[in-house]
Amino acid sequence: MQNFVFHNPTKILFGKNTVSSIGEETLLFGKNVLLVYGSGSIKKNGLYKEVTQSLGAAGATITEHGGVQSNPLLSHVQVGIQLAKDNKCDVICAVGGGSVIDEAKAICAGATVQHDVWKFFTGKKSIKSTLPLTTVLTLAASGSEMNSGMVITNETTSQKFGFANKLLFPKTSILDPAVTCSVPADYTAYGAVDAVAHVLEFYFTKEDPYTPVQDRLMEGLVINAMESCNRVLNTPNDYQARADLMWTATLALNGLTGAGLGKVGFPMHMIEHSLSAFYNVPHGAGLSAIIPGWMRYHAATKPQRFSQFADRVFDIRKGSSSEKAEEGINALESWFKAISSPTTISALNIPKEDIPKIAENALTLAKVWRMQDYDSEKIEAVLNN
Ligand code: NZQ
Ligand code: ZN
Repeated sequence: MQNFVFHNPTKILFGKNTVSSIGEETLLFGKNVLLVYGSGSIKKNGLYKEVTQSLGAAGATITEHGGVQSNPLLSHVQVGIQLAKDNKCDVICAVGGGSVIDEAKAICAGATVQHDVWKFFTGKKSIKSTLPLTTVLTLAASGSEMNSGMVITNETTSQKFGFANKLLFPKTSILDPAVTCSVPADYTAYGAVDAVAHVLEFYFTKEDPYTPVQDRLMEGLVINAMESCNRVLNTPNDYQARADLMWTATLALNGLTGAGLGKVGFPMHMIEHSLSAFYNVPHGAGLSAIIPGWMRYHAATKPQRFSQFADRVFDIRKGSSSEKAEEGINALESWFKAISSPTTISALNIPKEDIPKIAENALTLAKVWRMQDYDSEKIEAVLNN
C-alpha cells in the first residue's frame, strides 16, 4: 500500500426528506445564492419548488442560472460567471446531475477571477479561491457531489477537459434517493456504467501491485452498481435500490477507492471525453462503447488483473488467466447490452472514419493529464473494437 492523504471535506446528508435542509445548509456560507439547474427536470418533479422554498425560508436572495445542458458548455459557464459577478452572489447551489454540479463548480472558480475560466482547464492558471458550493444531487452517476473534479466542453475548440482542485469540493451535498426516481431508464443505466467505469479506471491502472483492501472495495462497488441498477430498471420506484445505486456512485469517485494505490490513470475517460467533445453522447453511453475495447487491448498483455476481475466480480473460476480475462470482459459487455448501453462506437452512430480525429483529440487531453503512455495507434485500436 502506498502512502496517501485522504481528506474529503464534503458533508453528506443522505436519505428521505433531506432536501428541505438545503436552505439552512446553503445559508451557512452566504445569502446571495446563484441557483444552477438543468433543462427542466427539476421543474417537472417538484424539486425546484421545494428547493426555492427552502432557500427563501432561510432568507436567501436567489439569482437563477437554469438551462445547463448535459455535457455542459464553456459558453454557458461564462454566462453563469457574469451573472454571479453582476449579482454579487456569495454562494452557489447546484440542483441536478453531474453536468449541473460541474458547471456550478466552474462558476465557483470563474467568479473569483478576471481571466477566462478555461485557463484553469488547460493548466495556464491555478485556482486560488472559489465561491462555496452546496448541491442537491438528482442523478446517481458522476460522483461530482462528493469530489473535487469538474468536466466542461469548450465548444469552440471541440475539447472536453476535466480538472480537479481541492477548492472545488462541495461544502454540503444532499442525496435523497427518492429524487432520482424520475430518472429515465437510459440515464439510470448510463449512470451505473459511469460509476463502474470510475472504479475500473483505478482497478486496472493502479501502480501498486498488491492492494487487497482496495481491490475488495472496488470489486464490491462494481457488483453493487450492476445489481442495484438491475433492480432499479426492474422497479424504477424501488427506494432501496435507488439508495444503493446512489451511494455506490458517490463512493466510486470520492477518493476512497484510489487511496493507497499510488499513481493511477483515467484512460477510458480520456478517450470518452475526446469522443463526446465532438458528439454530444451521454457520458455513460460513451464509456460503455469504449470499455470492452480498452479491456481487450490491455488484457492481451496483462491478463492476470483481468482474470482476478472475472473471478471476483463474475465468479469465473475455470480456465487460464487469458481465458478467464476474456470471459470476464464478455460478461461485463453482456451486462452493458442487457441495460441497453451501447458497446461499440458505431452503436453511437459515430462513423469509423472519424476515429483518427477522436484519437488526435484524446492525445491533447493525454498531454494535459500527463498520460505519456498513450499514442494514437493504441487509442485507435481501442476504438476499433
Ligand atoms: O438537464 P436536466 O433537466 O437536469 O435533465 C438531466 C439530463 O437531461 C436528466 N436528469 C437528471 N436528474 C434527473 C433527470 N431527469 C429526470 N429526473 C431526475 N432526477 O438526466 C440527463 C443527464 O444529466 P447529467 O447531469 O448530464 O448526467 P450525469 O450526472 O451523468 O453527468 C454527466 C456529466 O458529468 C461529467 C460528464 O463528463 C458529463 O459532463 N462527469 C463529471 C465527473 C466529476 N465531476 O467528477 C466525473 C465523471 O467521470 C464525468 O466525467
Ligand atoms: Zn465518468
